[in-house]
Amino acid sequence: MKLVLIGAPGAGKGTQARKLLQKYDLAYIATGDILREEVAQNTDLGRQVQEIMHTGGLVSDQLIIQIVGHRIQKEDCKHGFILDGFPRTVVQAQELEKLAGALDAAIYLQVSDAVLLQRLCGRQTCSHCGATYHQTALPPQVNGICDECGHPLMQRKDDTVEAGSVRLATFHSQSAPLEAYYAEKGHLITVDGLQDADTVFHDIEQGIERLIAN
Ligand code: AP5
Repeated sequence: MKLVLIGAPGAGKGTQARKLLQKYDLAYIATGDILREEVAQNTDLGRQVQEIMHTGGLVSDQLIIQIVGHRIQKEDCKHGFILDGFPRTVVQAQELEKLAGALDAAIYLQVSDAVLLQRLCGRQTCSHCGATYHQTALPPQVNGICDECGHPLMQRKDDTVEAGSVRLATFHSQSAPLEAYYAEKGHLITVDGLQDADTVFHDIEQGIERLIAN
């Protein structure tokens, strides 16, 4: 099965991807994680993209398509994948089809901007396994420590009001057209991302089952 998760920053793509991976045996590709790892390793690519990422812009289509094109050819993607954060533009969506063929579903998580900013600014991310928490909505059992692996939690550099606002504006101008793009292809599952995470997941499962049955 080939799935993509689309939605604004903080819509819950990473949260839902983790739930999907518990149910479906699929490769997981999160372009933001790949880029953050390059920044952390201080590679040429990392140095090239870090300023854009920290200020809330998008890295170029050409660069990200090259990265995904390389990753998607790996053995673990042969039986399907979940893409989180890609595509983010219609150009990326068109290139994805050339790389991987038609998708099974594009899951669009809909959340209002005011809630998104609250989520981003309160998010805490595990420095080791990438699990996400929220200071008030989803706190870890022990303050500052990941429930899943015991490593310290950190705040992402782009999880500020300033960068978050730019990221939301970038989403509306560049990524929002993906909703119509996938609706036209009949692959779109739109889910109310304001609900609690388990209910969101339940709706996603039902949406996938409906698409598969058709
Ligand atoms: P990326 O890492 O993909 O960031 P993003 O799209 O901005 O998404 P986030 O990871 O911030 O949010 P999410 O939707 O995964 O939400 P989460 O589940 O964590 O990209 C970072 C940067 O890399 C981009 O800005 C760009 O520069 C670059 N980049 C990446 N891909 C690119 C591409 N294809 N092209 C060009 N550039 C690219 O949840 C957020 C918070 O909300 C958490 O605290 C969570 O606990 C909480 N939460 C989640 N669900 C719920 C719920 N249902 N109710 C209450 N709280 C919830």
